[in-house]
Amino acid sequence: TRLQRANNVADLRLMARRRLPRPIFDYIDGGADDEVSLRRNADAFTDYELIPDVLNDVSDIRTETSIFGQPSRWPLMLSPTGLTRMFHGHAELAVAHAAARHGLLYSLSTMGTTRLEDLAQAFGGPKVFQIYIFKDRGLTAEFVARCREAGFHGLALTVDTPVAGNRERDRVSGLSLPPKLTLRSMLSFALHPSWSLPALTGSKFDLANVSHKIDALASGPMSLFDYIGAQFDRSVGWRDVEWLAREWNAPLSIKGVMTPEDARRSIDSGATGVMISNHGGRQLDGAPAPVDQIAAVRDAVGDAPDVICDGGIRRGSDVVKALALGATACSIGRPYLYGLAAGGEPGVDRLLTLLHEEFVRTLTLAGVNDIAALSARHVRRRANGAG
Ligand code: FNR
Repeated sequence: TRLQRANNVADLRLMARRRLPRPIFDYIDGGADDEVSLRRNADAFTDYELIPDVLNDVSDIRTETSIFGQPSRWPLMLSPTGLTRMFHGHAELAVAHAAARHGLLYSLSTMGTTRLEDLAQAFGGPKVFQIYIFKDRGLTAEFVARCREAGFHGLALTVDTPVAGNRERDRVSGLSLPPKLTLRSMLSFALHPSWSLPALTGSKFDLANVSHKIDALASGPMSLFDYIGAQFDRSVGWRDVEWLAREWNAPLSIKGVMTPEDARRSIDSGATGVMISNHGGRQLDGAPAPVDQIAAVRDAVGDAPDVICDGGIRRGSDVVKALALGATACSIGRPYLYGLAAGGEPGVDRLLTLLHEEFVRTLTLAGVNDIAALSARHVRRRANGAG
């Protein structure tokens, strides 16, 4: 099939770009300001060399691990992404089903377009809900109760979004919710009929998990920026993390932590892990690449907590590098969205197959037959690592 011709993430990205109207593709692909962190997140991996062992029996490679206390076939999970229905009509369920088939954890975004109860009902795999601490703490508490009731295994609290990042590609394209029909976007929609017809005739551009609370949404289209500005609480602090950890009392990772100090404080506040992340370069431009923070963060939190490297993973070998530096696992956003846009659930399937093959092949070539044996000696930062 067409998808079989995709050999890597880059190929799937190009397929997604051909298939999606430009404003929609740019919403996935873009980052904040000058997109320095966006580029750096991926480029930073190339600064690390993999140091192989030879003549080690690699006939059987052990890759199983646990993330958020849930078994995972290999150390990868799927990050939360909002508005997924804009990229393909089968939306979050297509991604979750593909993840489950591959034995991987799926995370549903608060800004997702599938109700968490519907996702939980349709999908038996391990799942995490991405939560925010909203101005209305009652809304957050309501999410905690709903997630517990629906059987979610973990929460990821996103903390890098006190205000929306400055995504200039979205400003140029006029992306709004639901998609606004400007002359420019109409032209782009008309040129991509395979996306546009199902998407524009369906009426489900709905933030399914929060729409019941957001009156403004009922009164017509509003820009994403307005929406986010209205809901996010810039006064959130560590006390709120302590409160959430007590309320939830199950696996909780703080998503968006960048420093060893904040990682330590996350664990001291009751979290069971951290996701080192700059939101895929969509928030604070100039923030360091997550991979460069792994070693210091692991050092600060000790062996037990989950340390998840989120951002810039485009090859299975990137996951090997992150693990050698001390990560429990990696998490991906755009790669699976490219797969979804390129071909729905089979597209996500293709992406996960490719990354898994790359991961196992890299371990084999590096002479590592058990991910537990990966350590700092397998990776080295090049002395002149130019970014
Ligand atoms: C995101 N991300 C994100 N994060 C989050 O906590 N809540 C959300 O609703 C979203 N929405 C979202 C939409 C889109 C289109 C993208 C690309 C990303 C960030 C996401 O969870 C993750 O941190 C990054 O995508 C990781 O970087 P890579 O894998 O895209 O390089």
